[in-house]
Amino acid sequence: MNSPSNRSGLVARVQNVVTQRMAGQAAGHGMDHVLRVLSSARAIQSRTGGDLIIVELAALLHDVGDAKFHDGVERSAEFTREILHELGADDADIQHVAHIVDNISFRKRDAAKPLSLEGQIVQDADRLDALGAIGIVRTIEFGAAFGQPFYLPNAPSEKTGVSHFHDKLFKLKSLMNTDAARNMAQDREAFMRQFLDQFLAENES
Ligand code: ADP
Ligand code: NI
Repeated sequence: MNSPSNRSGLVARVQNVVTQRMAGQAAGHGMDHVLRVLSSARAIQSRTGGDLIIVELAALLHDVGDAKFHDGVERSAEFTREILHELGADDADIQHVAHIVDNISFRKRDAAKPLSLEGQIVQDADRLDALGAIGIVRTIEFGAAFGQPFYLPNAPSEKTGVSHFHDKLFKLKSLMNTDAARNMAQDREAFMRQFLDQFLAENES
């Protein structure tokens, strides 16, 4: 089951399973996000090296059991093991991918175990998708889904989309693991800052 051709065939089979499992999840949190992470992860891997199949599998599976869609319980690592086992992946690959999926989130970063190069690549790709024009849209969509306003000029200490830019998104560039991702983050963060400056200026005029 683990010849090189089967190993790359696994990526396509995992993509099919994840596409089915994530069908119906809102844009920004669904397969569109996963495919952008996959594409950025491939671009980073082409500069850094690392095992491309592990990168692709972890990118595809990293949000498959997102807590937002599973009663607040994060089940991505558990589903990753199940799916890869079912599709006949070998144990070493299953353990490696599940370890990545279990340890890449921003929220758990203080408790996270060290990531392999492949894990660092997928973590960077996931973080890139929170930046730039896409990052702005995803922040607004998150607010719409969870009843959080984007901006409250008279309540600066309330949690808003704008506060999320400062609390998390503007920190991501310096948290990138790879130079390739840090470079890609540069333009995206600059665009977000420009958007925010314009947005705040329009609110004052
Ligand atoms: P991912 O799905 O990539 O693992 P998250 O689930 O943490 O990441 O967040 C999904 C998207 O929603 C990201 O673009 C993120 O910036 C945005 N988001 C997360 N938390 C908030 C929040 N409190 N306010 C606004 N946007 C948020
Ligand atoms: Ni993600």
